[in-house]
Amino acid sequence: MKTVIVFWSGTGNTEALAQSVAKGVQAAGGSADVFKVGEITPEQAAAYDKIALGCPAMGAEELEEAEFAPFYDALEPLLKGKTVGLFGSYDWGDGEWMRLWEKRAADAGLNVAATLTVQSAEPGVGESVAFGKKLA
Ligand SMILES: Cc1cc2nc3c(=O)[nH]c(=O)nc-3n(C[C@H](O)[C@H](O)[C@H](O)COP(=O)(O)O)c2cc1C
Repeated sequence: MKTVIVFWSGTGNTEALAQSVAKGVQAAGGSADVFKVGEITPEQAAAYDKIALGCPAMGAEELEEAEFAPFYDALEPLLKGKTVGLFGSYDWGDGEWMRLWEKRAADAGLNVAATLTVQSAEPGVGESVAFGKKLA
């Protein structure tokens, strides 16, 4: 099974999670390709068996609007019925952005197999590996 991990990260926290998610996928026997948003098209991402998407809480409990949101807007309709995992870092909120994202994805017909929210980054590594394993 081939998993793609596509993320946006401003200060590196979600990027660190993405690398750990890749380790988890590989530990579960899958292969994982990791891309920053902009390095892969929505069509290329949708061609993978499983898709892990990472974006921190930005704006007011929103997806990052300049790069990640347009990518996700184009990708979401291509992922109907596909297995996805959603992850990201947040800080001062309570993870609301992820609850909104998960609901949006489920309403669009995606199979959200796992979500991971981590406040800043430090405690997230083990959880990210577990998330990757679960997704794979
Ligand atoms: C412009 C901006 C908006 C943010 N909005 C939120 C927010 O609504 N809720 C929240 O919990 N954290 C918010 N944060 C905090 C980030 O989600 C947090 O710093 C996160 O670790 C950044 O991840 P990154 O290192 O992958 O960019 C915001 C940060 C920035 C710079």
